[in-house]
Amino acid sequence: MESGGFFIAIEGIDGSGKTTHSKKLVRWLNKHGVKSIYTKEPTNGDIGRILRSLARKKSVDPRVEALLFAADRLEHLNKVIQPYIKKEYVVISDRYVYSSLAYQTVTTSDPEWVKEINKFALKPDLTILLDLEPRIGLSRVKRNRTRFEEESFLEKVRREYLRLAEIDGLKIVDASRSIGEVFQEIVREVAKYLKNKVI
Ligand code: TMP
Repeated sequence: MESGGFFIAIEGIDGSGKTTHSKKLVRWLNKHGVKSIYTKEPTNGDIGRILRSLARKKSVDPRVEALLFAADRLEHLNKVIQPYIKKEYVVISDRYVYSSLAYQTVTTSDPEWVKEINKFALKPDLTILLDLEPRIGLSRVKRNRTRFEEESFLEKVRREYLRLAEIDGLKIVDASRSIGEVFQEIVREVAKYLKNKVI
């Protein structure tokens, strides 16, 4: 089947199932003859590695961190996202610019600045927000928690995500249900957008 490049971002708080569903979606698309790749932020590149180590530090200047997330995103866009879109892949990114617009708005309290430093970010064709109560999300996070994984912080991030969804038309999916139910809804949404190209 012919697909044409398409860019989908999967967003949500920690423990909302982004990685599980992004990978399932890539498998589903490839099975249906649509060339698709999984990618994520923070990336596994040099800047992504710095970000992962900073997440375990107690105090980091939130603006330094916001700039690093933006820098990692620009590399991601240049080295992975755009080249694969050009090769007509469906690119599925596990977190992208709305992660910064939500998390870094909370950490810096400066939404306009966060938007400004991310203004290069190519808008995805579709952004899916896996919405979930932080209490439930955190109960699914098994490893040692990072600075970002505190309930009161994630409450604020969730509110910010929902506000952005309203303004920018993100597709909200209730992630409190079973993996099968959530995935079915994701597939329905994606199929709607890809209909003209693939089905
Ligand atoms: P991960 O657990 O999805 O790999 O992401 C690591 C953490 O980084 C997660 O707690 C959210 C945070 N994060 C931001 O604060 N801003 C961003 O732009 C991105 C991509 C992630």
